[in-house]
Order: sequence, then structure tokens, then C-alpha cells
Amino acid sequence: MSVNTVGVLGCGLMGSGIAQVSASAGFKTYVLEVNDSALQKGMGRIEKFLADGVAKGKLSAQGRDTTIGHLVGTTRYADLEACELIIEAIIENVEEKKKAYAQVEAVVGADCLIATNTSSLSVTELAAGTKRPSQFGGLHFFNPVPLMKLVEVVKALTTSAQTHEALVDYARAIGKEPIAAPDRGGFIVNRLLVPYLLDAIRCLDEGLGTVEDIDKGMKLGCGYPMGPFTLLDFVGLDTTYFIANILFDEFRETRFAPPPLLKRMVLAGHLGKKSGKGFYEYSR
Ligand code: CAA
Repeated sequence: MSVNTVGVLGCGLMGSGIAQVSASAGFKTYVLEVNDSALQKGMGRIEKFLADGVAKGKLSAQGRDTTIGHLVGTTRYADLEACELIIEAIIENVEEKKKAYAQVEAVVGADCLIATNTSSLSVTELAAGTKRPSQFGGLHFFNPVPLMKLVEVVKALTTSAQTHEALVDYARAIGKEPIAAPDRGGFIVNRLLVPYLLDAIRCLDEGLGTVEDIDKGMKLGCGYPMGPFTLLDFVGLDTTYFIANILFDEFRETRFAPPPLLKRMVLAGHLGKKSGKGFYEYSR
């Protein structure tokens, strides 16, 4: 089926980015939040990114207005009625996601596809929580969504070839590079990225180098855009800890086991950029 109208569940960091790129590509995009203040915060993030883009000369004022014109913020599931694709980007909790899917399925048409942006939960388990497991798949975006080119298109055990193709087409239509990923913990990118980040923490704990030197080593020695500790602070230590636990549960391999220092930092509330302190300090 062809997709013209998209609904995004959640207008947090990922949801707002997904809604923005969808609207920029010309899709009528509804973005849903649980309440007005969360919605205003998310819409404000989109407006700021677009305004910065205009200020940097990356986007015309007309392009900004067209994107805004394609976006509708809402707190009512009923407004998603006309959507042909729903992309869910809410809290990483299976029960909460299932509740959201039930509310979606009460209003959308029989052909509507649902995709989850989960980074670590089983897409097959989430698909099984809907009445349309063959019309369900994963669209895993990367932060910051408007700047990162990749989308992992994840096939659940039940995803039909037609659904997978439609999700690949959508990813291309919004200007992203899709790669096909199986429904295995961490898909492709986090399966490789998370052990690397955890290993950096182990190296720090063993006194291999300072935070700054390890970051500098990987940035300048390997050409990575961010060193591991800058990236950990950027992604969020709680998010990394959550994903590592899921990967460890899935594979039972020590490379996925969260190091004690990561656990202690999360317990201390040192979550990275969002809390003002992680491996670095941030002025808020
Ligand atoms: N509008 C339009 N363009 C903008 C913009 C805006 N508001 N803001 C920035 N840009 C453009 C810039 O102009 C620049 O373009 P050019 O390359 O053409 O000059 C480009 O975007 C990069 O922007 P900046 O120069 O401001 O920033 P930077 O060079 O420091 O890069 C970054 C920032 C893209 C975040 C880079 O540091 C990076 O790639 N970091 C790694 C991020 C990463 O690994 N993300 C994945 C995390 S893991 C994840 O998300 C998955 C998970 O499941 C946890």
C-alpha cells in the first residue's frame, strides 16, 4: 500500500525527530503525546531545529514553513484515523507499547502498518501484541534523527514481505538509508556499538587512560565523530544500561554485561548530558 499520512506516537527526542523528517519529506504527519505540555515541548524542539537550520543556511524559510504545515500535534488517538503508517517512539516498556497499539488499532483502517522505533525490545513480541502481526515491523532511527542517515528496517518473525518493502520505501522516501536487520537483540548497530561502549567503560575503570584521552584516541585515531564517553553521555547512561541488560539477557555473553561503574553512575543519577553530569559535566 502507498503511505501518504503518517502518525508518530511520542514527541520526545526520537519521536520529534521522526515526525520532523517525515513532515519535511512531504508526508502529512500527526504526532501524538500524552499531554499538552509534553506535546508543546516536542513541537518546540522541532521548531528550534528548523529555525537553527534556517540560521545556518541549511534550510529556506519556505522549507521550514512547508514542514510545519505538514505537521499536526495532537493528544487524541482519534486524530490518527487517516494514518496509513504509525511509527511508535514511546517509552521502552512492552506493556505501555501494547496499550498504545490497542488505542491505535481502535481508530486506524485495516490496512494501516505499525512500526516500532524500539532499540532493544523484541519486535516479534511487540508485533504479537497487536491484531496485525504481519503488518508490523521495526523502523529504528538514530539520534539526532534529522542528521543521522541510517534507519534499520527490522523484520519480526511475522512481518510480511509486503510490509517490509513498504517500510523500506518509506525510509527511502524520507531521505534515509535503510538496512535490513533481523529481530535479534540490538539489531545490527547496537549489537556492535554497545559492547564497544561498555568496553570503553571497563578500560577507564582499569586505568587504561583518562576519559579525555580515550575519547581523543578513538576520535582522532579512528575518525569517529565522537569518542565513546562523549557518545555515552549523548545517548544517556540509563539508556545504555537498559539496552546492555536486554542484550545480556538475550545472549548471555559477558561482552554485553553492564560494567559495575556504569551501574553505579546510573544509580547516582549521572545519566549524561540530560542530567548535567555523566563522564563529563554540562552547564544546564
Ligand atoms: N538544520 C540543518 N542542518 C543542521 C542543523 C540544523 N538545525 N544542525 C546541524 N546541521 C548540519 C550542520 O550544518 C552540519 O552539516 P555539514 O556536515 O554539511 O557541515 C551537520 O549537520 C553536522 O552538524 P554540526 O556541525 O553542528 O555538528 P557535528 O559536526 O559536531 O556533528 C553529530 C554532530 C551529527 C551529532 C556528530 O557528532 C555525530 O554523528 N555523532 C555521533 C552520533 C551517533 O553516533 N548517534 C547514534 C547514537 S546511538 C542511537 O541513536 C541508537 C540507539 O538505539 C541508542
